[in-house]
Amino acid sequence: MATSTYALLVISIMMPIFLSSFVSADPDLLQDVCVADLASDIKLNGFPCKSNITADDFFFPGLAKAALTNNTFGATVTPAFVTQLPGLNTFGVSMARIDYAPGGLNPPHTHPRAAEIVFVLTGELDVGFITTANKLFTKTIKMGEVFTFPRGLIHFQINNGKVPAAVIAAFNSQLPGTQRAADALFGSSPAVEDVVLTKAFQIGTKEVEKIKAKFAPKN
Ligand SMILES: *[C@@H]1O[C@H](CO)[C@@H](O)[C@H](O)[C@H]1NC(C)=O
Ligand SMILES: *[C@@H]1O[C@H](CO)[C@@H](O)[C@H](O)[C@H]1NC(C)=O
Repeated sequence: MATSTYALLVISIMMPIFLSSFVSADPDLLQDVCVADLASDIKLNGFPCKSNITADDFFFPGLAKAALTNNTFGATVTPAFVTQLPGLNTFGVSMARIDYAPGGLNPPHTHPRAAEIVFVLTGELDVGFITTANKLFTKTIKMGEVFTFPRGLIHFQINNGKVPAAVIAAFNSQLPGTQRAADALFGSSPAVEDVVLTKAFQIGTKEVEKIKAKFAPKN
């Protein structure tokens, strides 16, 4: 076989493998359904399947209505992850609804297991994500428009408008995971040593303690 033909053959065999490793999120399912048994003690990658399932296992009404937004940030995320919608187990997708009061902020956070795409239901939002090269990509999005956030990168949405806003967010994971930057660093349990934070943020111990007090774990 000529070298070039051989190279082509290798490329055609390997390409789908490379591509699938680039696009994969949650692993593929090996059966029609595997409704999560959320009460099971068995630990595995995902949740074990329940045997007695009904249509309700695939149903979640929780995104139908706006959530209350009278909290510190003026924004509320209502998840429809596998933990709320057990029928999603092994599907590799999930959703959330996010409601924002005027001025409301969904603070900087990442989803370690999923890319995200948001569709604006109502209102207007300033959204953005930051790459590993610390470049900010930001945009104002309005009703009916979509914006997407790469998997694992820090992103946020803020309602700088005068009326409430809401989005539907979709994820390519049944459980995207959410890590808020401020809560992780200043509200962990046990707490991150002050010296880590004073050096990392180039601020004094008093300032660290002040921020820690705001993010102290609730329990
Ligand atoms: C299956 O679930 C239904 C509804 O929750 C219940 O009425 C029924 O007894 C269950 N069957 C078994 C075999 O557990
Ligand atoms: C938010 O508003 C609701 C309904 O008006 C009220 O029941 C609740 O206590 C409020 N929560 C906070 C944190 O103020």
